[in-house]
Amino acid sequence: MHHFTYRDNRLFAEDVDLTTLAEEVGTPFYVYCEATLRRHLRIFADAFAGADALIAYSVKASSNISVLKVLASEGAGADVVSAGELHRALIAGVAPEKIVFSGVGKTRDELSFALDANIYQFNVESEPELVALDEIAQTKGLRAPIALRINPDVAAGGHENISTGKSEDKFGVPWSRARALYAMARAMKGVEIKGVDVHIGSQIDDLAPFEAAFKKVATLINDLRADGCVIERLDLGGGLGIPYGEGATPPHPQAYAQMIKQVTASLGVQLIFEPGRMIAGNAGALVARVIYVKDGASRRFIILDAGMNDLMRPALYDAYHDLWPVVKNTDASEAYDVVGPICESTDRFAKARMLPRQHAGDLMAIMSAGAYGASQTSQYNSRPLIPEILVSGERYAIIRKRPTVDEIMDGEAIAEWLC
Ligand code: LLP
Repeated sequence: MHHFTYRDNRLFAEDVDLTTLAEEVGTPFYVYCEATLRRHLRIFADAFAGADALIAYSVKASSNISVLKVLASEGAGADVVSAGELHRALIAGVAPEKIVFSGVGKTRDELSFALDANIYQFNVESEPELVALDEIAQTKGLRAPIALRINPDVAAGGHENISTGKSEDKFGVPWSRARALYAMARAMKGVEIKGVDVHIGSQIDDLAPFEAAFKKVATLINDLRADGCVIERLDLGGGLGIPYGEGATPPHPQAYAQMIKQVTASLGVQLIFEPGRMIAGNAGALVARVIYVKDGASRRFIILDAGMNDLMRPALYDAYHDLWPVVKNTDASEAYDVVGPICESTDRFAKARMLPRQHAGDLMAIMSAGAYGASQTSQYNSRPLIPEILVSGERYAIIRKRPTVDEIMDGEAIAEWLC
């Protein structure tokens, strides 16, 4: 559920009229509903009410500091994957004891920074990372709290580009090496084993792969305990799918929670979750303006002022996003290819999509763009990053401004021999 609704055929984000907003801030822009962010976090938290659970929002999904502040005010922690994300989480006021650090390639500088920040847990993804963390922590006279991210060799459905839990994927330590690596970690003075971590992919719309992976990890915990390890925490990552269009029915967080409670009931561990998309996805939309409607030889194109650099998901994963006219008209529907202005054939948001007749100047909302939208943008074609707007009731705030042309080139320099 989200807070984008039509009132008298005009699309609103909470109580803000998107037509007016577009006139005030210019297009294209991202808009997020604070009410939806809060609601989704509460739904997830409520599903685990009564359990010892930490919800560490996956910052990569939507990393704007205001978004993080909203979620932190609801009690969320943060799952970060870089020094940049850790900085953001700290600036937003996320308590270090609610921050976990994931990622397959943490640099020594990043490990050092996170140790100094006193974060809750490092999710270690390889033997060399374990060795590096141990060394760095020892030089600081610290012990790094760790979980090893286990690759359970479970296929997670969804698009293959966002599946991470198969043995051929780069993520995590191989299932067959897990016990040996825990034994190695036990002997290290710079790390302290706290738990086990698993994350199998994203936009997973079926509980079965989660259950298969989590059951495997539960047996591992029993084995590790038999080996003498103290395992207090189980980080189950993120990955729960969301509805991208009508008719999609991903599992409800309640069903997900019920399955997890069953699988983990006898383990006596703190549960950690890293949801991203489930919190932010349907809280956001990308609002763009139609530049031209163009008749090709065999197709009719809507050319928007937003491009694949602003929202990469369709180009990267063939992702489906609903397209809602910001002002509804009653004209007959036609099939359109909805594209951006970028010089790439994959710069396309929809193919042969049925939409009421569109005209130059009309506004279009690309729905469910709150996760992996603004956080994945680029300035390709020297297009400025587009603004992000946070709405709360009747209020709105520009939480990332559109850079000027000069700012796009800021940081570039002309080599001295070219001057
Ligand atoms: N934890 C880890 C270690 C992750 O790698 C991810 C996502 C998450 C948590 C959050 O997963 P979520 O709950 O959002 O599914 N750009 C792609 C998705 C990439 C997901 C990367 N990792 C997309 O737009 O579909």
